[in-house]
Amino acid sequence: MDTKWMDSNLYLDKNSLCKLLNNLSEGVHVVNEKGKTILYNKKASEIDGLKPEEVLGKNLFEVFPSLTLETSTLMKTLKNEKKYLNHKQTFINYRGKKTTTINHTFPVYFNDDTKGAVEISKDITQTEELVDDITDLRSKLKDNSKNVKRKVNNNTSYEFSDIIGQNKKFNSSISDAMKCAGSGSSVLIYGETGTGKELFAQSIHNASQRKNNDFIAQNCAALPKDLLESLLFGTEKGSFTGAKSKPGLFEMADGGTILLDEINSMDLSLQAKLLRVLQDGRVRRIGGQKEKQVDVRVITTMNVHPDQAFKENRLREDLYYRLSVVYIYLPPLRKRKDDIFLLADHFIDHYNKKFNKDIIGLDNEIKKAFQSYSWPGNVRELKHVIESAYNVKQFGDEIQIKDLPGYIRERMGQNRNISVNYNNSINKLDSDEMPPLDQYLEKIELGLIKDALNKTNHNISAAARKLEISRQSLQYKIKKYNLKDN
Ligand SMILES: Nc1ncnc2c1ncn2[C@@H]1O[C@H](COP(=O)(O)OP(=O)(O)OP(=O)(O)O)[C@@H](O)[C@H]1O
Ligand SMILES: [Mg+2]
Repeated sequence: MDTKWMDSNLYLDKNSLCKLLNNLSEGVHVVNEKGKTILYNKKASEIDGLKPEEVLGKNLFEVFPSLTLETSTLMKTLKNEKKYLNHKQTFINYRGKKTTTINHTFPVYFNDDTKGAVEISKDITQTEELVDDITDLRSKLKDNSKNVKRKVNNNTSYEFSDIIGQNKKFNSSISDAMKCAGSGSSVLIYGETGTGKELFAQSIHNASQRKNNDFIAQNCAALPKDLLESLLFGTEKGSFTGAKSKPGLFEMADGGTILLDEINSMDLSLQAKLLRVLQDGRVRRIGGQKEKQVDVRVITTMNVHPDQAFKENRLREDLYYRLSVVYIYLPPLRKRKDDIFLLADHFIDHYNKKFNKDIIGLDNEIKKAFQSYSWPGNVRELKHVIESAYNVKQFGDEIQIKDLPGYIRERMGQNRNISVNYNNSINKLDSDEMPPLDQYLEKIELGLIKDALNKTNHNISAAARKLEISRQSLQYKIKKYNLKDN
């Protein structure tokens, strides 16, 4: 038994176990070898609309007469000793309420050598209703937009001219994206969170001949597999209880672009279906007979490296090759520090207009802090940090460290505290969180330079000799680290 999840001395009496189970937001239903319910928690009773006494000790088919050996996952698990994951079930419960659940069912083995089956159910009725609403709204918006005469009304707000950056690597990503825009080939954009993946995807769409048609973005991590499947491909009435006839996003984006965010979070079996749709360009609604030809450009994003996604078996290689006809990498902000001030100025301009203020820039101290900070949230974090400064700034025309949100002041403080004791630098790292290597090496370099300058009374030639580097190189570094004022 896998007991690594609990203390070896743990003993749970029935009361504590019931308390634990009844506070879960998932339904738990356990049957014994004979199919009799032996455990039924509060959430399961809410989902089914039944009281515990109506279910406990009774055979499953007695309580749920509409179930059969083929349709009951609990009974199938009992029979085959196999687990069934992410099984979607829609039913009208005993209170007449249409309910949809996602179930995980797996076999269990008891101490007395008998077996049973457990079903964990998550009620996704509301999520599914929301998905329906979103689809309806999207259809209505699409219909309305046909009647509104606007230059472009395609669900986007960005074009290439909105992308700020002069870093060499970043610029080559922009030029790759510009070059591929007109081709209609699928594009895979890889970059950490907040590096501008959506910005690039929208810009590609708006620079293509598809720009007068829709751009539809869907996050693949946000929904369970079955819901995502019906959202992407649509449903035909009667495909499962209560299903409406509705088009999927592929049909709605016909002639346009679909952005599938975080494709590595999509269930592998759905990835296989997606591959088939991409290969022959035809979609069939779930439960439908007819196939429809669609012309959709697919842009996908990933925030983990493809190699890592393969290693963790989260991405099908055949799908990856189909999706990455054009591959664009967006470097994190810490690897394009030359863009930090450019972006900061851009956001300052933006928020000056929005908040009707006249901030002229960043003061020197914050500039240094921005340069050494690692920006885990990348450009989005920089944007939010500047926006939040506008909310607290009362006086002065430069943003200062004290105008920043507490969390970032704290993190920047931690960064500054990275020891510059280069003799014993590794031992000084007592936190589990490693700073990025280049940042850490810079700290050590800075420490050595300061030390050499102090020891030589700021005689640059003497300090350069001590450090065994050229005078020019030292002068360059003094400028880089802004050491003149110190
Ligand atoms: N180069 C850039 N120039 C101007 N704004 C940018 C740039 N990169 C990102 N931004 C801004 O940063 C924010 C985040 O960008 P975006 O949503 O495209 O990131 P993302 O990579 O899709 O993030 P996530 O992985 O979290 O979805 C947006 O407000 C966007 O306008
Ligand atoms: Mg995004």
